[in-house]
Amino acid sequence: MKISRRSVLAASAAAPVILKTGPASAASASIQLHSRRHRGEIDKNIFGNFIEHLGRCITGGIFDEGSPLSDSRGFRKDVMSAVKDMAVPMLRWPGGNFSSNYEWRDGIGPRDKRPKRLEMAWGTVEDNRFGTHEFMDYVEAVGAEPYICLNLGTGSWADAQQWIEYVNGDQDTAVTRMRKQNGRDKPWGVKYWGLGNEMDGYWQMGHRSASDYAAFALETAKLAKLTDPNVKLIAAGASNFRAGSDWIGWNRTVLEAVRDYADYISLHLYVGNAANDYADFVASPLEMDQKIDILAGLIAAAMSGRIDRVTGQPSRDGRKLYIALDEWNVWYRARGNGQRGRRILEEHYNLEDALVVAGFLNSLVNHADVVKIANLAQLVNVIAPIFTSDKGMFLQTIYYPLQLFSKNVKGNSLDLLVESPTYKSRRFDTVPYIDASASLEGNSLVINVVNRHQDQPIDVVIGLEDKDFSGPVMVSEVNGPDIKAENDFGKTLVSARQSSINTGGRSLTHSFPAHSYTQLCATLA
Ligand code: AHR
Repeated sequence: MKISRRSVLAASAAAPVILKTGPASAASASIQLHSRRHRGEIDKNIFGNFIEHLGRCITGGIFDEGSPLSDSRGFRKDVMSAVKDMAVPMLRWPGGNFSSNYEWRDGIGPRDKRPKRLEMAWGTVEDNRFGTHEFMDYVEAVGAEPYICLNLGTGSWADAQQWIEYVNGDQDTAVTRMRKQNGRDKPWGVKYWGLGNEMDGYWQMGHRSASDYAAFALETAKLAKLTDPNVKLIAAGASNFRAGSDWIGWNRTVLEAVRDYADYISLHLYVGNAANDYADFVASPLEMDQKIDILAGLIAAAMSGRIDRVTGQPSRDGRKLYIALDEWNVWYRARGNGQRGRRILEEHYNLEDALVVAGFLNSLVNHADVVKIANLAQLVNVIAPIFTSDKGMFLQTIYYPLQLFSKNVKGNSLDLLVESPTYKSRRFDTVPYIDASASLEGNSLVINVVNRHQDQPIDVVIGLEDKDFSGPVMVSEVNGPDIKAENDFGKTLVSARQSSINTGGRSLTHSFPAHSYTQLCATLA
């Protein structure tokens, strides 16, 4: 019954241990940890988020000019306070698919003079009233790191280069003068820039073959680093991992081309429960584990082949390239060809979705050595944790795990030994009922546990191999009356409930209720 996270995906020769359903409490599991057994340092940017000019995410979401709920800049104050409470460390903008037809020059200068343009990604007219300056004001207001995705669809190398110069340039040029005329003297110094979005996808404006994209991205990357050597670049990895798509081939080609210039390669993952199969759906984080592991292997292979241009020998400069999981979420109800116009991609989330989100966050933490950026798609209204109307807003079920991870999970990711009963699902042979991650910063230990079982609590013994617990452990439990429970305006069925347990010594035992995500915040002696 010994299960390590890295082994669960391998086809298991042993028969899976099926936890019998029935009266509560027979089941048990354990988590062992050592304070010096690490997986890697957690980059706070793995708890990032994303805003796109799509549906009511920006206009009608974070930005609602003329609304009594907005401030003088047009930012919805209630939304901003929920964003701050979620501790969003990074925001990606302006898309997504939208970025592949975005002309950044349309979004600068006096708002009333900005042109309206046909927006082809989602079938609307873009009024450009929220542009570069508004985005930079917003990230500053919510305390997030900006990440701008360049247009490598309809855009040119020169467009991409000049946008970076406009934002980061400190020389006196025609481009930086434009920025100054528009009210911003100092460069913003935006560090993170995406080299296009989902360029492997047939749906993408300006879609290219792997080798065409790789050549285009490489030249854009060179111009970007010549403009500002401090920028970090995210190459567009393959978005699509369906049977028949050449996911591995795309990533290999792109990585081999951009490995001396790009700093990250993107990975996107959306999952859903169209089959209404809870046991299989809640195991979806295993798919994230698998994709990260494969992409990490491709990165390692590509980086090992780098040649030093001066010596002609294998490069030994230690250059690293990481994964940016810059779009991920549950998305299946509001999806498909009809998603064009204003009220689109408005998923209403339930408890099982929140458990999948918590499991994805566990996966990100457990891959802290290779994943250094991740962005939930998206922040408001569009497949989002925050949902608004003209009159107010409510927090969706998925808000709570996102908030708990982002606020509390820091430091080093610990390499856990998780022993759990398992089950077999439609897609996975061996799914542990207990899914976990943990972080340690100084003496602060945070353990995240999802009990995937639909009916039974599971007693978990948490054992420290080299330290003692000291003082009370704060418990936050995200749960609800049943797996389909949803929140709505004026109705909160799923939220985080706080309690505490007293403990000391080398171990504690906690009963994790059926269909729950729990975060334990402990202090080590
Ligand atoms: O997040 C919604 C869309 O999903 C994004 O615009 C695109 O990149 C992805 O296909």
